[in-house]
Amino acid sequence: MIALYLPDSNRRNPDLLVEVPQGVPAKNFHRPRRGETRPERGALRHACPVRGPAAAALSELEREVGAPGDGLDRLRLVAAPFVPEIRLHLAEDAIVWWARMEAASGHALPPPYWASVWAGGQALARHLLDHPELAAGRRVLDLAAGSGVVAIAAALAGASRVVANDIDPYAVAAVTLNARANRVSVAATGEDLLDSDAGDADLLLAGDVFYDGELAGRVLPFLRRAAARGSQVLVGDPGRGHLPRDRLDLVASYRVPTTEPAVDTPVRRVEVLRPR
Ligand SMILES: C[S@@+](CC[C@H](N)C(=O)[O-])C[C@H]1O[C@@H](n2cnc3c(N)ncnc32)[C@H](O)[C@@H]1O
Repeated sequence: MIALYLPDSNRRNPDLLVEVPQGVPAKNFHRPRRGETRPERGALRHACPVRGPAAAALSELEREVGAPGDGLDRLRLVAAPFVPEIRLHLAEDAIVWWARMEAASGHALPPPYWASVWAGGQALARHLLDHPELAAGRRVLDLAAGSGVVAIAAALAGASRVVANDIDPYAVAAVTLNARANRVSVAATGEDLLDSDAGDADLLLAGDVFYDGELAGRVLPFLRRAAARGSQVLVGDPGRGHLPRDRLDLVASYRVPTTEPAVDTPVRRVEVLRPR
């Protein structure tokens, strides 16, 4: 049971941590073909500078990505299993990466959720790429962005502006690196927005945010305030313990390949939902 071996800084989410991918299949490792170029989407020229703690985290991740090594504690640029159009810098083994980074820094770090791509985020990203009209020409906010998989999908779908928000400075840094890797423009921010009404976002997206009771208790009112203000709101969730399913309506469902070890099915049903 992986949770038994977590460093001390795992305070609340052993349930979630067992889903950390234990190595993404080598076939997903993207090797650019000779002469391959990808068109730039969005306005890279508008990309916001990363500031504060996220700037230090970005320098650290840039060093990691520049000299990845070959151990389990490295980051690799891989295609997201259910959204192979998107490549992400993910940990070969997030727990090992986390332990090394905590040992090097000498203090506890938040769990590196950004170093994995979650089932809820993948389903939501798939939904956006398959229905680009949802995001095209709209101002998008990706709440709890993690790696940025959802934000990047919105940018690829033609959003006019994408903001990815996550309170973990490493996630802000990872979104920045991953947006670059996919040649899209995403502004990453680290403030806690949950007491606001999501500003002027036309489309508010939240992938895999109902894993923690305290967080879930703040997220649902936030989503409802945004919806009441006129935002379209979409959530991606595999049925986490704090999902308020009776307050949400089904939009679509997907069978997402799971990376969880020791499960009896290789896929997981993940729903895309909207507030009722
Ligand atoms: C399970 S991950 C999901 C990441 C991504 N959406 C995906 O599906 O791959 C949850 C993320 O929520 C972030 N988070 C936790 N509390 C938050 C808050 N108050 N505001 C924004 N992000 C938060 C965590 O840092 C973490 O990156």
